[in-house]
Amino acid sequence: MQLMDGSFVAQQIKEELAHEVLTRKSKGMKIPHLAAVLVGEDGASLTYVSSKVKSCEQIGFGSTLIQLPESVSQSQLIEEIEKLNKNQDIDGYIIQLPLPAHINEKAVLMHVSPDKDVDGFHPECIGKMALGMDTFLPATPAGIIELIKRYQIETAGKNCVVVGRSHIVGMPISLLMQRNAYPGNATVTTLHSKSSNIKEVCAQADILIVAIGKPGYVTADMVKEGAVVIDVGITRVADDAKKSGFRIAGDVDFHSVAHKCSWITPVPGGVGPMTIASLLINTMKSVQLKEK
Ligand code: GUN
Repeated sequence: MQLMDGSFVAQQIKEELAHEVLTRKSKGMKIPHLAAVLVGEDGASLTYVSSKVKSCEQIGFGSTLIQLPESVSQSQLIEEIEKLNKNQDIDGYIIQLPLPAHINEKAVLMHVSPDKDVDGFHPECIGKMALGMDTFLPATPAGIIELIKRYQIETAGKNCVVVGRSHIVGMPISLLMQRNAYPGNATVTTLHSKSSNIKEVCAQADILIVAIGKPGYVTADMVKEGAVVIDVGITRVADDAKKSGFRIAGDVDFHSVAHKCSWITPVPGGVGPMTIASLLINTMKSVQLKEK
């Protein structure tokens, strides 16, 4: 078993981007600027958004965090989005999900200008991705693709099983793994809450990508000998031994599964850091697209 070390690769990507920022500075070119909108006080969302802002600072990007109260109305949130669309200095921004229940997520995301949508959630971005056109890829799937690429894992003709069909991870990674490209050209099966024979189908996978948010869901009996296992789960689980009172758990029972795998991502330190790295790549791409 070998680890796909997302922390290491994400650090490499950040160094590459930091170098690019310095080059741009020396040429008097625009420095990329990422903004994040956080609605409410959810602890996990605040942690993710803060680490996105911190990563921007580390590599020399501009960053802005816009915090809005849980009680913000949908129209007030849309007003903030319109301001970001107009702000010439902001190259890309994200609306941290989930949003409070009184806000219609789909309706709000429709207002994000596709040329600043570094999360790649706008229907125009998803449509272009599905058609294999150049666009911003959603950060987590893009991070998985980058990880597969940097570890030179063969995907063509492989049996790829994706567990989960969320719009953020399961659906887009299923599309990306079956496209005519590298990584891609896999035969993809997407499993979801209504699927039958989940264990048997998982056990056929050469590449198993799990994104359902159920800690320890994938056990050794569901994994084929020599499989590549990519764990997208990042659930907070109560743990008295930790100062914070919780630990981060993946969807894969790492200890029982790891010895069967050729490659596996750890949690934490696998897909998580790659998501942030992809967001930074997309922000750099946004600046570069405007220069074309
Ligand atoms: N919430 C969980 N994952 C994501 C993500 O990739 N982007 C945003 N904006 N919110 C999320």
